[in-house]
Amino acid sequence: MKKIILGIETSCDDTAVALVDSEGNILSSVIASQLDIHNEFGGIYPEFAARAHISAILPTIHETLKKANISPKEISAIAITRGPGLIGSLLVGINTAKGLATGWNIPLIGINHLRGHLRSADLEEKRIIYPATILLVSGGHTFLAYMQSETDIKLLGTTRDDSVGECYDKVARMLGLGYPGGPAIDKLAKTGTSNIKFPRPLIDKGLEFSFSGLKSAVARYLDANPDANKADVAASFVETVIDVLITKSKKALKQFSAKSFAMVGGVSASPQIRESATEMCKKLNIAICLPPMRWSTDNAAMIALAAFDYLNLNITKPATSDLHLTIEDF
Ligand code: KG4
Ligand code: ZN
Repeated sequence: MKKIILGIETSCDDTAVALVDSEGNILSSVIASQLDIHNEFGGIYPEFAARAHISAILPTIHETLKKANISPKEISAIAITRGPGLIGSLLVGINTAKGLATGWNIPLIGINHLRGHLRSADLEEKRIIYPATILLVSGGHTFLAYMQSETDIKLLGTTRDDSVGECYDKVARMLGLGYPGGPAIDKLAKTGTSNIKFPRPLIDKGLEFSFSGLKSAVARYLDANPDANKADVAASFVETVIDVLITKSKKALKQFSAKSFAMVGGVSASPQIRESATEMCKKLNIAICLPPMRWSTDNAAMIALAAFDYLNLNITKPATSDLHLTIEDF
């Protein structure tokens, strides 16, 4: 019988719960969104996020089990995001997971949120062929990694300042679009022309990224051109981001021999970025691995799948809420 893991993810603004089997099949996945709560602030309000997790978490777990018609006795382990993320939000998930794992007498496996994103490329279907180069672009992080296997991950280059998602969200705010900014910018960009030349910091240097200069350049442009065509600004911004991401990914693919290229994290839901990555891989004759869009943004299925890597190796990582957890701490 296939093992089943219950995944719980509360690192940010969504309460996500999923049941996943050892082959990455998703038996059920429920996400309680907090968008309505944070929308009026134009970003996430951490204290409200933690409180919303408290009221949503048990009903969401209950609904996930009910949808898949699975009882706690059929679950082999609980996987919980142990960081990085908002500490108040993480604590709600971690303490709930600890209580359930103790009550149900099953192992509790703490998962680094970023490892979850990396493993999301294998959800529903095994896509990654190792060794693989992976680009992670989320709201909190941006980096390139080289994976020899599910558990052998080497960081190639990360961002020195802002993440791509952060940049999308801040530019969206400057353009008067709502939160999260990614989907709104993508939509607007499709109606504009990329006729503004924004800077591409660090583009010719190594595999590190820098996006804060781009964010400031858009702010300066809007200050100097209050009547600017917003769609053109969005289109030029998206083109700049794509240029940087594709240039760096190509560089990594040339430097480290890989059999596939994967792109994960919330920003990889962008149709424009997906199209450019697919085109790049076609030209380089390398397999492209893109999870379905719903698994690009935060979810609990990726956390459960990542936990199988530990369960198979008989390793359980403590579900601490370590504030200092970093991307190196996979
Ligand atoms: O991975 P994710 O859901 O959460 C974090 O781990 O941070 O990523 C959220 C980020 C936000 O910045 C959001 O604006 C961006 O992903 N995003 C997108 C799209 N959908 C979400 N960015 C570009 N295009 C999208 N369609
Ligand atoms: Zn995430």
